[in-house]
Order: sequence, then C-alpha cells, then structure tokens
Amino acid sequence: MATLSLNAINKSFGAAKVLHDISLAIEDKEFIVFVGPSGCGKSTLLRIIAGLEEATAGSIVIGGEDVSAAPPVERGISMVFQSYALYPHLTVYENIAFPLRVQKLEKADLDARVQRAASILQLTDKLQLKPRQLSGGQRQRVAIGRSIVRNPKVFLFDEPLSNLDAALRGDMRVELSQLHRDLDATMVYVTHDQVEAMTMADRIVVLNGGHVEQFGTPMELYHHPKTKFVASFIGQPNMNLIPATVVGVDASGIKVDMKGGHQMVLPVEAATVNVGDQVEVGIRPEHVQIGNGGLNIAVNVLERLGGATIAYGTIGGDTRFCASLSGDAVITEGAPLMLQVAPEACHVFDASGDVLRRKSAPALVA
Ligand SMILES: Nc1ncnc2c1ncn2[C@@H]1O[C@H](COP(=O)(O)OP(=O)(O)OP(=O)(O)O)[C@@H](O)[C@H]1O
Ligand SMILES: [Mg+2]
Repeated sequence: MATLSLNAINKSFGAAKVLHDISLAIEDKEFIVFVGPSGCGKSTLLRIIAGLEEATAGSIVIGGEDVSAAPPVERGISMVFQSYALYPHLTVYENIAFPLRVQKLEKADLDARVQRAASILQLTDKLQLKPRQLSGGQRQRVAIGRSIVRNPKVFLFDEPLSNLDAALRGDMRVELSQLHRDLDATMVYVTHDQVEAMTMADRIVVLNGGHVEQFGTPMELYHHPKTKFVASFIGQPNMNLIPATVVGVDASGIKVDMKGGHQMVLPVEAATVNVGDQVEVGIRPEHVQIGNGGLNIAVNVLERLGGATIAYGTIGGDTRFCASLSGDAVITEGAPLMLQVAPEACHVFDASGDVLRRKSAPALVA
C-alpha cells in the first residue's frame, strides 16, 4: 500500500477552471473521503488521481513515485464507480477474475486471488451465480471484488453506494469500513453524503467550488469548522445560523445582539471584528437544551423519532431554527419553546463566512 500526494493540482475545461491549487498529503492506509456539493470537482479530482483525466497543472505522487505522466494501468490504482458494469453473461467468479484474465495471470494465482476477494466480501457461496441472481448490494460487492484482485496500491471509489437504497447503503458503509480494516489499504472515497464522510473517513476533504475548504478528521470538522460552509455541511441536522450584530468587544470575547432579541457574550477571538459588524452565530441542534436561556423558538413541526425529538421552527420571525432534544421532551407544535445554549458551544462566522476562533474549544476526540 502507499502514500498519495497531490501537489498544486489545477484543472480547467476550456475557460472553466474547476480545480484550484489542490495539495493534499494522504498517509499510507488512510481512508480519505472527498465530500462536497454536486459540481464541486470531486469526480474530476479522483479521475486525475486515476489518470483518466489530465491535470492542467500539478503532480500526483503515489508511493513516492511521480505518476503524473503514467497511464492509468501503471499507477497501481483501482477505481470503483457509481454505475458498476458487471458482465451479465459471466458468473460472479468470472466477473471478479476479469481484470486478471486480461493480464493473463497464471491459473493458480488467479484462483487464489478470486477466492481471497470472495472470502473478504462474503461472496464465496455466490461465485457460480450470475449477476441477475444477486441483490444490489451483492452486485456492488462483486464490482469491489474486481478491484481487490488487482492488489492496487490505492483504491478509488466514486459514489459507489448512491444507487443503493437507504438501508443497504447503511449496511454497505459498515462493510466498506470493515474492508478498509481487513485490506489495510489506502482508500479515497468520493461522496456528497456527509453521513458517509463522517462515518467512514479517517480524514475528510471538504471541497467547495474546486477549492479545499478544510482537510481534517471528522471530529475536527465537527468541532472546529473553519468556515460557515464546512459548519453547515457537516453535522445532521444542519447547524443553525442566526444573524447577529456585534455590540461589544473585549478580552473575553464579543457581545452579540442576535436576531430574536437575545444577547450573548461569546468567547471567541475578536481581533478581526468591530462593534457594529454583522456576524452569524452557529448553534448545532444537538447543543441546545430546554430552559429559559433566551432562545425563543416558534415551533412549526415536531419529529418524534423515539430516541430523539427534532423540533423545527423559527427564531426572530423568519430565521429557521432546529433543535434536537430528548425523545420524550415535553413540547407542543405551535407553542413557544424556550431554549438555552452554552456560550462555549456557539460558533461565530464573520461576514465573509470565516470562523472566529473559539477561546475554549472542546477537546477533540481522536
Ligand atoms: N469533461 C468535462 N468537460 C467540461 N466540463 C466538465 C467535464 N467534467 C466535469 N466538468 C465540470 O467540472 C465541474 C466539476 O465536475 P465533477 O464531475 O468533478 O463534480 P462532482 O463534484 O463530482 O459532482 P457530482 O456530485 O454531481 O458528481 C462541473 O462544473 C462540471 O460541469
Ligand atoms: Mg461526481
């Protein structure tokens, strides 16, 4: 297995620049997820790593070797796509063996590799079946098997689960994490689903408009988003963002007048803001509690999930606010709901969407 370095990768299609100066150092055996909204450049970046697309500028180094000019087959990578094409007339065995047949591998070696992949993917008793006799998840596993038998240095996945239904996606998430552990492999996985990113990644690359917004562990991104974009993208339900005006600045932080009339003193670095500036206060739905803390929410819709209650409503008339509370929280749709939040749990974003660093940020969980 291998490290993977992207050095100042730029990509333009004609006049349209879609990737801007992307540099990433990916460790051996890491599970890296590229996440971001549609069109942000995830697939293009993955295809450049694979050699299916040429970068306009920059270099790719796999296992210490510059492969920027190498064709895909010589890069030691293997890619699994969203729409995996299995050969319908071939058995599962032959579908998995296909890349090895092309390589004209010796029979005993080929068989050993197919059996190992089948065993890892729990397909041993399906080897003689045809793809149409398999479930969607099993078919996706065959496509992954085809990539395992090639013993690649780096596995690349482009939204491999998005054709599956929600329950199966959840199962496959767990299976892919297990596969990563079993293979001890470097993996790069593209998705626009932040839950897949949070649950599977060692580190996440958040892409926005062809730029890297932030690169860090899931819990770093959750606790220390550097921008409003990352803050709103990571975490479910999404972080609440309440417009506010700075009414005081001192050594302990800033005092804000929030929409809805509530004032708070927030312990953030205040060097870049002045009294009168507009900011946004970010509050995660799971960080509020019921109590007379000044957040006055008009609740429109309640979702009782059993273990949790999600309350959707507004603050200050028209700013949306969502709270994730205990399953049996005593709340009524249409009735006012008073909430509180600890100042240390709040994030503050300036007018350009950059976070004001918190003075007492919570400890990171590795
Ligand atoms: N071959 C191409 N020619 C011209 N423009 C392209 C080409 N491939 C991609 N693009 C453009 O590059 C940008 C990034 O596309 P890309 O497919 O990498 O996005 P993505 O993040 O994978 O999106 P999605 O989540 O929808 O798959 C888009 O604006 C797209 O229109
Ligand atoms: Mg894509």
